[in-house]
Amino acid sequence: MILVTGGAGYIGSHTNKALHSAGYDTLVLDNLSKGYENFVKWGEFVNCDFGSYDDLKNLFNSYDIEGVIHFAAFSSVGESVKQPAKYLKNNFKNTLNLLKVMKKFEVNKFIFSSTAAVYGNPEFTPIPENHPLKPINPYGQSKLNVERALEKSDLNYVSLRYFNAAGCDFDLEIGEAHVPETHLIPLILDAAIGKRDSISIFGDDYNTQDGTCIRDYVHVNDLADAHIKAYEYLQDDNSSNIFNLGNGNGFSVKEVINTCKKITGIDFNVEISPRRDGDPDILIADFNKIKSSLNWNPKYDLDTIVESAWNWHKKINNDVCI
Ligand code: UFG
Repeated sequence: MILVTGGAGYIGSHTNKALHSAGYDTLVLDNLSKGYENFVKWGEFVNCDFGSYDDLKNLFNSYDIEGVIHFAAFSSVGESVKQPAKYLKNNFKNTLNLLKVMKKFEVNKFIFSSTAAVYGNPEFTPIPENHPLKPINPYGQSKLNVERALEKSDLNYVSLRYFNAAGCDFDLEIGEAHVPETHLIPLILDAAIGKRDSISIFGDDYNTQDGTCIRDYVHVNDLADAHIKAYEYLQDDNSSNIFNLGNGNGFSVKEVINTCKKITGIDFNVEISPRRDGDPDILIADFNKIKSSLNWNPKYDLDTIVESAWNWHKKINNDVCI
């Protein structure tokens, strides 16, 4: 079976569902600090912290684990600036602990959730994988540290550098539910549904056509599909690799807001606020490498991303299940 750490979280739960649809058995490890037990609707669940060597050792002794897909991490850039030590411990040191246990049990297939934040302020876009790596926050640094550790290890690994994960499961069994929410699309949809008075645009004086930041939004199901392709790539004995995961299309904050207005049919308030620290003007992936190596192509556009997120948003607003 495949061990899915952080499988009760947003991207982890969507990938866990996709793994089951593809016929894999999974064991989901999550300490529920960010995830939800009722997002684990497939496979077995164990409430455990991957920072504990003894707990992991017991787990690897009890289950027949053939590979690991490692999502468990803290992922708020702003929080990482305020609490860098927390990010270096959980995202980097605890991952070294997991790698140590994998080595002991001779489990050598590893898929790692990395991030576009390893590039920092890009020197050019679209960004290829060989672009210089200069993270500008502890979150990006913690993920880059793991990438460096993987390079030195003898594991067979794939690191996937996500751009902006968005959208939800089309069956609405699972979705996006961060507390507190910091991501653009769910915050806009909060304004649409009336949970917030307005959405704030963090800066309209960036060096882009309409002055607002441009990002590459990729549907979470496209991400899930890439994890399965990456796992199968390792099963076929291909060598370790690093891939960007993005759509290759950029949308400004204003364009995302307009798409949300169009999909929801609701005209909510928009205000301009000061810039948020550490936001690069433009982040767009060059995804040619994963396209040619894994035959991965993103299937879903921004309208579909927003539509699925909106359906989920309406569901959780009427529901106290999470
Ligand atoms: N934004 C607003 N108003 C808001 C929230 C966000 O204008 O209320 C803007 C941000 O300034 C940014 C864009 O919307 O320009 C997207 O912001 P998100 O917070 O949704 O996403 P980020 O691009 O900051 O971060 C995402 C992931 C990180 C990852 C990063 C890599 O959430 O984990 O991409 O580039 F590190």
